[in-house]
Amino acid sequence: MKKVRQIKKAVIPVAGLGTRILPASKSVPKEMLPVVDKPLIQYIVEEALASGIKDIILITRQGKSAIENHFDTDFELETTLAQKGKGETLALIKNIVQMMNIISVRQKQPLGLGHAILCARPLIFDEPFAVLLPDDLVDSDIPCIGQLIEIYQETAGPVVAVERVPKEDISRYGVINPECVRDGLYKAKGLVEKPSPEEAPSDLGVIGRYILTPEIFNVLEHIPFGRGGELQLTDALNRLAQMNTVYAYEFRGKRYDAGDKLGYLKANVVYGLKHPKLKKHFKQFLKTVVTE
Ligand code: G1P
Repeated sequence: MKKVRQIKKAVIPVAGLGTRILPASKSVPKEMLPVVDKPLIQYIVEEALASGIKDIILITRQGKSAIENHFDTDFELETTLAQKGKGETLALIKNIVQMMNIISVRQKQPLGLGHAILCARPLIFDEPFAVLLPDDLVDSDIPCIGQLIEIYQETAGPVVAVERVPKEDISRYGVINPECVRDGLYKAKGLVEKPSPEEAPSDLGVIGRYILTPEIFNVLEHIPFGRGGELQLTDALNRLAQMNTVYAYEFRGKRYDAGDKLGYLKANVVYGLKHPKLKKHFKQFLKTVVTE
């Protein structure tokens, strides 16, 4: 195990428009849409907290302040719940707020994921850090970002989470050109953002979990705008992979693209079936619906 700095900060880009899930996301940030009884963003923050990260950096924009409010103290609500003796509900809203620090930075122009990450530079300085994309919900025993942290502690290099993707869907992902290190761990010899099935170097697509090292900022500053006229994180990682080693890890767990209507529905069903208070009745209900 190499001596590496601890991952203390997570960057969560939340400045996207959420067009894939309209009209639900028209006046509510897509990150605030509920999966069962919690907004999507809370699952993402809880994943970071469960992996030892307390400092959450939101890359945000106008119209997204509901996210910051969700992670702030609501004195009136808390007092009312306490007065009414609703301790259990109070804990649900209070505990997470006390566990984390939230910092937000505005992304002043919609110039892509790479640009969003660059906005975090003044808050990261020279540390390694985690990136979690809030569309991707990962259901796993060990938090997905925690799995990447373990790989980072072993390799001291940037790590992306990957999963096998069917050919017809590959053009929705960043895709790696893998060199196997051992079962599930690869060196990414190159990365391509949203290639056609013919151009894709493999079927290993990048999902929204990354451990990045601060070198990424210099690269992001110097690469040209890429696919869709946006500054692409995948392009920066591809450049970095030519200079240093970038790792890819086939995480253990199941990922749901909750930024997409079908993925969002699937996530609600799966998380509903796991909810301690709802699962029994929900399962019975689903059985009746499916047989009807
Ligand atoms: C982003 C990244 C892409 C990655 C994907 C995972 O794309 O650019 O490389 O595979 O997230 O969810 P987006 O889905 O934001 O277009």
